[in-house]
Amino acid sequence: MDDNQLQSSFSVTLTFLNESDVKEDLPAASLQHQELTLQVHRELEDINLNITDDAGVCVFKFSIRKETECCRVATRSFLITLGCFSVLMRFSTQSEFQDFHRMLISWMHLRRDQSVFRQRSEDSSALQYFQFYGCLSQQQNMLQDFLRTATYQKAMLLNEDDFKDKVVLDVGCGTGILSFFAVQAGAQKVYAVEASTVAKYAEMLVRSNGLSNKITVLSGRIEEVSCPEKVDVIISEPMGYMLLNERMLESFLHAKHWLKPKGMMFPTQSDIHLAPFTDEHLYMEHHARSNFWNQSCFYGVNLSGLHSSAVDEFFKQPIVDTFDMQILMARSVKYTINFLEAKEEDLHRLEIPFVFKLLQSGLIHGLAFWFDVAFVGSKMTIWLSTSPTEPLTHWYQVRCLLQTPLFAKMGQTLSGHVHLIANKRQSYDIHISAVVDQSGFKSGNSLDLKNPFFRYA
Ligand SMILES: C[S@@+](CC[C@H](N)C(=O)[O-])C[C@H]1O[C@@H](n2cnc3c(N)ncnc32)[C@H](O)[C@@H]1O
Repeated sequence: MDDNQLQSSFSVTLTFLNESDVKEDLPAASLQHQELTLQVHRELEDINLNITDDAGVCVFKFSIRKETECCRVATRSFLITLGCFSVLMRFSTQSEFQDFHRMLISWMHLRRDQSVFRQRSEDSSALQYFQFYGCLSQQQNMLQDFLRTATYQKAMLLNEDDFKDKVVLDVGCGTGILSFFAVQAGAQKVYAVEASTVAKYAEMLVRSNGLSNKITVLSGRIEEVSCPEKVDVIISEPMGYMLLNERMLESFLHAKHWLKPKGMMFPTQSDIHLAPFTDEHLYMEHHARSNFWNQSCFYGVNLSGLHSSAVDEFFKQPIVDTFDMQILMARSVKYTINFLEAKEEDLHRLEIPFVFKLLQSGLIHGLAFWFDVAFVGSKMTIWLSTSPTEPLTHWYQVRCLLQTPLFAKMGQTLSGHVHLIANKRQSYDIHISAVVDQSGFKSGNSLDLKNPFFRYA
């Protein structure tokens, strides 16, 4: 049988409950305690439950969605909350209940296994990724990035009206720092979602800071957890190297499932900047890294047969470090992503076209990348910039070398495009192609953002 269309029947009685237990307000109150038939049917993400009477007429139906709250009660009942009331289903026998319960649990696991996150990430990548973030030392590294942490706090405190008495969702809360800022800005309630084991430390900080009544830590992936209510603001720090590394922006966008209409996203938009650079020293140094493989007598073995493979491998590595603005040969081109409008799928393939007008003559060795994010509040817009003109952050800047440098004169144009293709290792394959329009000289490169070369001292 198609796994998506399994169906089963059970014999149940229903008891409807609401807060004041006023039976007249409840739907189908007349059905209480009647012997009825429950038919369960799974349709992709939803588990549909149809209740029919002994004439086979459907008297009540509802769905168990990802966000539906439900649980087992004693040995043969199941409680489901549907908005302002709950329904208790009592199965006629314990074995029927067990069949139902087993089926439900396996469907729920299946649903979790099919989450967007699991579909787009290899298990090995996710395991390593969340192990990394589970370490307090990594969280400390981010917390100690003063520009980052202070700008987030400033963005929230200076836009207090957007947080006062609001319900907030913190996507990937880490130690919970942004949730604390949201409370400082007046949030009434914050749901702090974290998939790594650092969630337990966030919980400890929430408790030791006496904020258990305001911040609820939900342990799990945003794509798999259920937020108890819709929220007014989503906050997150989902930026990786070159903005996109880690593919966490997609999780941030996924969280919009829980956002009320007209809700806010903090940050609200981001700009990726790119500009051609000249850096003979870097280019030579990068080439020199592969010289090791040019040796003809390494402990008596000739390694030179691997030299060109080593050059290829090293040139695939984007370089993470910082540099002087002087090496930039043109004004940067900007590519904007609006988090209120963008959908997860929009980040699966990005094409960034460019035309640079050169401000100096010389050899172009590659393209430099950095990004800014903006917090667009109702009172003011605050920017967090990783530009080489700004104080250095833990994101540094990223440079991608061309396979062969291109000579161009001042006033000429370099045009082409950068393709960024998301991969299952929570990163991107980068393809650059460029041409000096006036001479027709062409170059390009393909790089692996998952495996950068960390060059900073
Ligand atoms: C860049 S850190 C930011 C941590 C914290 N918000 C801060 O500003 O210090 C991103 C955090 O998001 C978590 N994370 C990444 N993807 C997630 C997902 N899909 N669901 C839940 N947490 C996620 C990571 O484990 C990590 O702790």
